Amino acid sequence: MLEITWLGHGSFQWKLETGEVIVLDPWLNGPTYPKDHQFDRIDAILVTHGHPDHLPDAAPLAKRFSPVVVSNYEISLWLAAKGVGNTVGMNKGGTTQAGPVRVTMTHAIHSSGIIEGEQIIYGGEATGFVVELPDKRKIYFAGDTDVFGEMALIGEMHAPELSFLPIGDLYTMSPREASVAGRMLKSKKVVPMHYGTFPPLTGTPEELAALLAGTGIEVMTLEIGKPVNW
Ligand code: NI
Ligand code: MN
Repeated sequence: MLEITWLGHGSFQWKLETGEVIVLDPWLNGPTYPKDHQFDRIDAILVTHGHPDHLPDAAPLAKRFSPVVVSNYEISLWLAAKGVGNTVGMNKGGTTQAGPVRVTMTHAIHSSGIIEGEQIIYGGEATGFVVELPDKRKIYFAGDTDVFGEMALIGEMHAPELSFLPIGDLYTMSPREASVAGRMLKSKKVVPMHYGTFPPLTGTPEELAALLAGTGIEVMTLEIGKPVNW
């Protein structure tokens, strides 16, 4: 069993039955972050890319809980320069152990610049992750991305039972692209994310569900701050 809590936007906490906590793309200052959420512990932080709604809050959280922090190589150097220990810089196709889970870095079609003051620092390429739980179930966490044909390969190689897909539009896929992604990945369930945070992020889970009707793929719509078990 995995307890999944949506922390708003593209940010999640996953808590394993054995108590370990994995945090993905923390954004504690986001407009939809649930302010009453408390972190008790964090064993691993996964960062998909360098944008301000995904990366910067990983540094203070990492200093507080000393988790392993997995990201692309360039972001791992940036985090280390900010004083974060125990970083794992990797690249696409690679797999590493991160606390209790195995993490494979995947492709994403997006950008990854790190904004610092008035500068934009090169943040490597945007990524996604396939996470294998101790019970061998696999989850695909797409990060920010458009749909891409190699999602079919992710489906073939990893057969993730659950996929997290952005649907908001403008910066990422909309439900139209996400429905194609869902069919390629062949996951039983899809969690929509990266929508509703700001007015331009217009995609909705209802649109995605309508486009996936008849495929057997269930849209698992989460409520921000409300844990669900999977
Ligand atoms: Ni982004
Ligand atoms: Mn984003």
